[in-house]
Amino acid sequence: MLEMTDVTKTYRVGGQTVRALDGITLSLCGGEFVSVVGPSGAGKSTLLHLLGALDRPDAGSIRFQGAEIAALDDEAQSEFRRHSVGFVFQFFNLLPTMTAWENVAVPKLLDGSRMAKVKSRALDLLAVVGLGDRAEHRPSELSGGQMQRVAVARALMMDPPLILADEPTGNLDTKTGAAIMALLTDIAHQDERSVVMVTHNLGAASATDRVITLTDGRIGSDVLAGGELT
Ligand SMILES: Nc1ncnc2c1ncn2[C@@H]1O[C@H](COP(=O)(O)OP(=O)(O)OP(=O)(O)O)[C@@H](O)[C@H]1O
Ligand SMILES: [Mg+2]
Repeated sequence: MLEMTDVTKTYRVGGQTVRALDGITLSLCGGEFVSVVGPSGAGKSTLLHLLGALDRPDAGSIRFQGAEIAALDDEAQSEFRRHSVGFVFQFFNLLPTMTAWENVAVPKLLDGSRMAKVKSRALDLLAVVGLGDRAEHRPSELSGGQMQRVAVARALMMDPPLILADEPTGNLDTKTGAAIMALLTDIAHQDERSVVMVTHNLGAASATDRVITLTDGRIGSDVLAGGELT
């Protein structure tokens, strides 16, 4: 579904150069829940940003369903992000003045749909994440775990084949974290999506189908639950 070949990403700040990704090759198949682990600064978020076309690689190829996404122009890339990728960030990125269901509906609204048309789907998704009774609450009226579940529902709004989550359980208690994990597992398995999750929690990582370890911008290991991949 998505293939990265020999991808390199370098940042230049002042006179300093940081090689955030250094020759990454990997492929993702549908129906798989993949975790990415590694020390701080290893390149995990950079990898997610490139998979989701939030940023471009310096070199290498990123192909999604056969098309080279790194070569698309800005407009085509934002089209790819809107329709094919659902992002779940650590700090939720919810809009404070909007209610839970309006936040979930945002991707469709950005895509030109009318509020009234998308409300029922937004409410259905809130029910899926167990928040059917919080639809009219604003983010400030929700707990951290509830905000994170709203962010997961929003990521599903466009029904994207690829879900990218950067530490979705990072600042949640164990029980809420486990509920988010169960939800992401369901999403990956029931709907044949690829879910890629960055986490510092090795317990959470070991519950996924495949664990990719990044160190200094390189893949150290890539292990399937059933055996070694590379
Ligand atoms: N926008 C940027 N400009 C310059 N350097 C950056 C930028 N983003 C990341 N870096 C550098 O690239 C490297 C990889 O960063 P990245 O955010 O991918 O790490 P990470 O594995 O997600 O770490 P953490 O676990 O702390 O979130 C780091 O050394 C960081 O300093
Ligand atoms: Mg990070």
